Amino acid sequence: MEGGARMIVTIFTVCLIFLPPTSATLGPKGLRMGFYENSCPRAEEIVAEVVSDAYRKDPGIAAGFLRLFFHDCFVNGCDASILLDSIPSGEKVEKDSPANGKFLRGLEVIDTAKARLESECPGIVSCADTLSFATRDGSVLAGVPQYNMPGGRRDGLVSRAIDVISNVPLVNAPIQQITQLFVKKGLTQEEMVVLTGAHSIGVAHCSNFAYRVNKYNDTFQIDPKLDDADSAKIKSACQRQVSNEEIEKTTLPFDTHTPFKMDGGFYTNLLNGTGLIESDQAMALDPRTRPIVERLAEDEGKWLNQFGRAMSRLAAVDVKTGSEGEIRKQCRSVNLENKGNIGIAQNLGKTNNTAGLGDRSDFPSNSIDSLHDFMRTMP
Ligand code: HEM
Repeated sequence: MEGGARMIVTIFTVCLIFLPPTSATLGPKGLRMGFYENSCPRAEEIVAEVVSDAYRKDPGIAAGFLRLFFHDCFVNGCDASILLDSIPSGEKVEKDSPANGKFLRGLEVIDTAKARLESECPGIVSCADTLSFATRDGSVLAGVPQYNMPGGRRDGLVSRAIDVISNVPLVNAPIQQITQLFVKKGLTQEEMVVLTGAHSIGVAHCSNFAYRVNKYNDTFQIDPKLDDADSAKIKSACQRQVSNEEIEKTTLPFDTHTPFKMDGGFYTNLLNGTGLIESDQAMALDPRTRPIVERLAEDEGKWLNQFGRAMSRLAAVDVKTGSEGEIRKQCRSVNLENKGNIGIAQNLGKTNNTAGLGDRSDFPSNSIDSLHDFMRTMP
């Protein structure tokens, strides 16, 4: 290298090391790539190791993380509030909401990663960042090209079941309502369709689609969007069991052909009318979202790249940084010293709650049946 060029490279390197991060490296509210570079240099490596071990045993875990993360970010921001088992007030937590319920996967893997992080660098890496890194690593293992996941989130002190239903999309909500939810979180309608491509992997339980073949509405016994083959498939999966308990556990994959691989098959399925849950199918029928579905179905590589970018944006929704929240010692409960602050934090949580579907405080938060009864009353 010429002397001048060497000098420029040296100056550039020195600037990178010593100047404060610029807007290119700083994300929203100060999230930053390599956040733990100095404080816990192996943080991301540790999470990646734990995730890849878990993925080897069960590749379904990648889907589990994606859903956990999405439902965490949409309810009071990406602050790991979904991981809390209980709060001192005894109120029901996000996990207790039927929209999360027994269907969340990946919690134990986050516990393992966090335990290893605490033994390597105690009190440094938040549960919110642990979940963000794990979600990125899981989706990369499932086929998404590597994407940026800055760190710096802090953990929330509040988790309430009552906040869930007004902030996460329901399977039979109209596309307009689902779009509003995403827009309220600072995401676009296109990002909504791109992110919902996460349904390229994973499963749904009968309780989220069996209603499509059983007294769908006052006019139709079966959802007219379903063809005969699909309605027969749903009937045979969800109606042959005898006990409610069995039905509750029964699942179908979103994508029958490649249930563990993030691929464009999801959008092609929607265009062929074989979407498992109603809201997915509606995206291929609504004139505002159909062109997006068509574009994404045409170019899998483009969708996957867009997916990574949209995930980085999802990961910044309403994050807590700086001195907000705390760094939990373990992800299932708030730290002892903050337990006394919960009352105040809960009130703050209430005013920050950007409900997209109106006030749902009347929502009964303890059973799947009541979720579906409730959904039927929605506009
Ligand atoms: C757009 C509106 C959306 C609706 C109405 C919706 C609804 C659902 C429902 C009902 C299930 C099945 C849950 C179960 O029965 O176990 C599910 C699963 C899943 N969702 Fe969504 N979702 C939406 C968007 C998203 C987004 C944006 C992501 C991620 C970025 C996502 C990721 C997932 C994944 C990966 C699964 C499978 C989970 C597993 O296999 O454990 N969803 N979703």
